Order: sequence, then structure tokens, then C-alpha cells
Amino acid sequence: MNEHSGKVAVITGGARGFGRGFAEALAARGARVVLADLDGEEAARAAAAIGDLAEALALDVADEPAVAAAMADVARRHGGIDILINNAGIHSAAAAQPIGVLGLERSRQMFEVNVWGVIQCTLAAAPFMAGREGAAIVNISSMASYPCTTAYGVTKLAVRGVTTAFAHELGPQGIRVNAIAPGLIMTDTIRAELPEAVVAAVSAQQIVKREGATSDIVEAMLYLVSPGSGFVTGECLRVSGGVTLQA
Ligand SMILES: NC(=O)c1ccc[n+]([C@@H]2O[C@H](COP(=O)([O-])OP(=O)(O)OC[C@H]3O[C@@H](n4cnc5c(N)ncnc54)[C@H](O)[C@@H]3O)[C@@H](O)[C@H]2O)c1
Repeated sequence: MNEHSGKVAVITGGARGFGRGFAEALAARGARVVLADLDGEEAARAAAAIGDLAEALALDVADEPAVAAAMADVARRHGGIDILINNAGIHSAAAAQPIGVLGLERSRQMFEVNVWGVIQCTLAAAPFMAGREGAAIVNISSMASYPCTTAYGVTKLAVRGVTTAFAHELGPQGIRVNAIAPGLIMTDTIRAELPEAVVAAVSAQQIVKREGATSDIVEAMLYLVSPGSGFVTGECLRVSGGVTLQA
């Protein structure tokens, strides 16, 4: 269980949901984990629950100077960065609407977090990851990027594009970049916000007839940051119970 011992992982949106699950799993395998979240207080609570290997960082991934300063500070204090999980995202039920319905301002705000946030964190962390053994970035896209019928879906399609672009751009520095496209996973946010009818409709399309769990996404992340995926870069792993494969 110590396969990530001595490694430093930055997890955006680490306070709750997938992000907290990622932090718990990496810390349990020996990594130092930095839970970077807009909600600094919840991140601090999560870090305290995880233990000595965890620390909280209040950070808005859309704030470019703050992101640059935060990555430099983490690297200075811990000697570098090995793993970056670009997980922070706006994904409320309200965001899952056509662009014209959501409106330009809210669509732009979602792009700032879901897309520019990924780009900014990647560019700010990459110099501190370059040349480190096993350096890996995992971006969290979504199955909503496949039908891509909403503003949210477009941001997550962009995350897949950014993943391919950075796999090429950072490959020469020894950094692998992959994405995960989760299907419907019942985190607290989803449980609180998504109407039951939508949950039922998505579940009906799944081949695997059970609820998706945070642990399903955590397992995919662990694969993509492990030496076992050392020949994999620029990919997007769909973890959805097979929703797009249904006839
Ligand atoms: N849960 C699902 O079914 C599902 C499916 C597909 C994709 N996703 C994606 O997975 C990611 C995590 O989902 P979740 O369900 O765990 O979400 P969540 O809402 O439980 O947690 C998201 C975290 O991101 C933080 N955050 C939001 N904006 C931020 C910002 N600007 N800077 C820093 N932190 C910020 C929030 O404070 C929160 O702690 C998101 O990118 C989401 O779009 C989720």
C-alpha cells in the first residue's frame, strides 16, 4: 500500500466528492496530498480527517495568479509535484442546459473553472513535474461530453481536447496526461441536485445495473497514475457502466 510513498499529489476540488476520494486513496498509498479547493474550510476538515499526509489549500482554479503561486509554493515546500488531478468543476443541474438557456455569463464562468482551470493548473504545475519518475496528470471530463448537448458537456469535451494537447506538449518532459469520463456517480452534490427522473433515465441506459460509486472513479485514477499505465497517454477512460454502448 506504499506505492506512492514520497510522492506529492495536488488534487483540485479535493474537499468533497471524487476529489476527497482521490486524496484518501493516494494518502493511503503513501503520497502527500494537497487538497486545493474553493471551499478552504471543507478542504481543511477533509485534510484533518485524512491525517498527517494531507493538507488543505484554499484555491480558486479560475484565478490564474493564485494558481501559479499555489503550485510554486507546494513545489517549494515539498520538493516538486508528481501527480496533478484536475478535478474541480462546476456541474450543478442548472449547468446542464443549452448555452442559450444558461446564458453567456454563466457559461463563461463555467468555462473559466472547468476548462481554463485545467489549463492554468497544468501549466503552473508542469515545470515542477518535469522529469520526475512517473509524473502523471489526470483530468476529470464527463460522459456529458459525448452527446455534448449542454454548456457543461461542451466544457467537458474541451477537457478531453486539452488532455490530448497536453499529452503531446508535456510528453517530452516525461509527464503523461489522461482523462476520465465518469458517468452518473452519486456524490452528495449529485444526490442533492439532480432530479430523480434524470437519475432514473441515465440508470436505465447503463449496461451495468448498479449505481456508480466514487470508488469506481478512484480505481480508474489509481490506474492512470500507476506505473501499470506507463504506456498510456492522451486517453480518456470512460467509467459509466456502459451508457454510450447501449443500442
Ligand atoms: N458526480 C458525477 O456524476 C460526475 C460525472 C461526471 C463528471 N463529474 C466531474 O467530476 C468532478 C467532481 O465531481 P463531484 O461530483 O465530486 O463534485 P462535487 O461538487 O462533490 O465537488 C466539487 C468540488 O470542486 C470544488 N470547486 C468548485 N469550483 C472550484 C474552483 N473554481 N476552484 C477550486 N475548487 C472548486 C467545490 O468546492 C467542491 O469541493 C467535476 O469536475 C465534475 O464535473 C462528476
